[in-house]
Amino acid sequence: MSVTAIVGAQWGDEGKGKITHLLSPSFDAVIRFQGGSNAGHTVKTGGQTFKFHLLPSGILYDGKVCILAAGVVVDPATLSAEINTLIEMGCFRGKLILSADAHIVTPYHKLLDSLEEKRMGDCAIGTTGHGIGPAYADKYLRIGIRVGDLLDPPVLKRKLKYAIESKNAVLTGLYGAEPVDPEEQYEIISKSSESLVPYIENTTPIIRDYMAEGKNLLLEGAQGTLLDIDYGTYPYVTSSHPVTAGGCLGTGISPLKIKRVIAVSKAYTTRVGNGSFPTEQLNSIGETMREAGKEYGTTTGRKRRCGWLDLVLLKYAILINGATEIALTKVDVLNEFETIKVCTSYMYKGGRIEEVDMDDAILAQCTPIYEEIPGWSTDISEVADFGGVPRNLAEYISFIEDRTGIPVSLVSTGPDKSQTLVKDVQPEKLPAF
Ligand code: IMP
Repeated sequence: MSVTAIVGAQWGDEGKGKITHLLSPSFDAVIRFQGGSNAGHTVKTGGQTFKFHLLPSGILYDGKVCILAAGVVVDPATLSAEINTLIEMGCFRGKLILSADAHIVTPYHKLLDSLEEKRMGDCAIGTTGHGIGPAYADKYLRIGIRVGDLLDPPVLKRKLKYAIESKNAVLTGLYGAEPVDPEEQYEIISKSSESLVPYIENTTPIIRDYMAEGKNLLLEGAQGTLLDIDYGTYPYVTSSHPVTAGGCLGTGISPLKIKRVIAVSKAYTTRVGNGSFPTEQLNSIGETMREAGKEYGTTTGRKRRCGWLDLVLLKYAILINGATEIALTKVDVLNEFETIKVCTSYMYKGGRIEEVDMDDAILAQCTPIYEEIPGWSTDISEVADFGGVPRNLAEYISFIEDRTGIPVSLVSTGPDKSQTLVKDVQPEKLPAF
């Protein structure tokens, strides 16, 4: 039995989906533990392109168990649409299990998300507008609607009535908006959830049994460490825990069982939404990265902000997650640069620091100090194995390993699954590693 976690080491969009897809064949089950349809990843395989928001990409493999665990917030309409699309393409091949304890995102959560962003004006978070914050807020207020409630219409109606009473006071009183009708919300939610009913189960004992049977489990995080509600750049964060510990909370797996943690980081940095970003390049360098990396959000289509790799932040993410290795993605995006910069420390209040308190306001006062590394200026999309990478790229990777203290075990050189170089370990050996 082994439990491996894949987590984002930056502000999301690191390419976790591709790494999960690549490693899924070595695991018995892939488990998503937090977040909702704010996530988005594209998987390119066998000449086809798949866009996922909620489903783990393991669903493309025959018989692979894919679990949406208790820590996830599920938008029934989005999940149903994603399932239907894959069924129509003939690619819904795995076995989906949806936790009865997961919370659902309702239409009024999405409405509240957008109204609150408008109210905040210049201070808005820049959310994806998918109702994630309001859904998690209701979970902690204990007026959330859980997936299991979808199976019991009288309970669902009663819970909606109480939740909506309080939401309507806010909608009309704070935002001057129209109230929502509980009956109408009930109709929308039950209709969009109809096709999900066969997948709903209590996932905690299922996961426990899998562990007792010695199965290999892969935990798939969404978003990234710097968007964690407690350990990210608050308040410009999401409302869940994308870190390894969130994998325990969101699934019921003991922290002692997670033996391997893969921190996924781009070879540079991106961020969507507002908040500090010390190495951001608001210039032609950032634009080159955006165009070469197609840095536009899968979920919202927004332009991603781009900048150099920040090792102060990466080292922080490695510590918070207990990462055992790095998967370095989108390395090919740096092909064009003659010189590559890496931030290794900051100037803060007149002094040089290598660690920072993770607070958006503090980060805003940090000026990056860079070290320069010669670029490889070569197309690496056809490199077949790690031994074939240009010398300067091998040095870039060694530099990251030296400074972070953990190995880079996977290097992604292009969007296709086949464009992944494995260093140190073979994919089929990974669970036992
Ligand atoms: P929310 O998760 O929609 O509430 O958005 C909160 C913040 O997290 C915003 O800055 C979003 O842009 C960011 N965010 C949420 N999900 C993702 C993601 O999957 N990738 C990158 N950023 C994300």
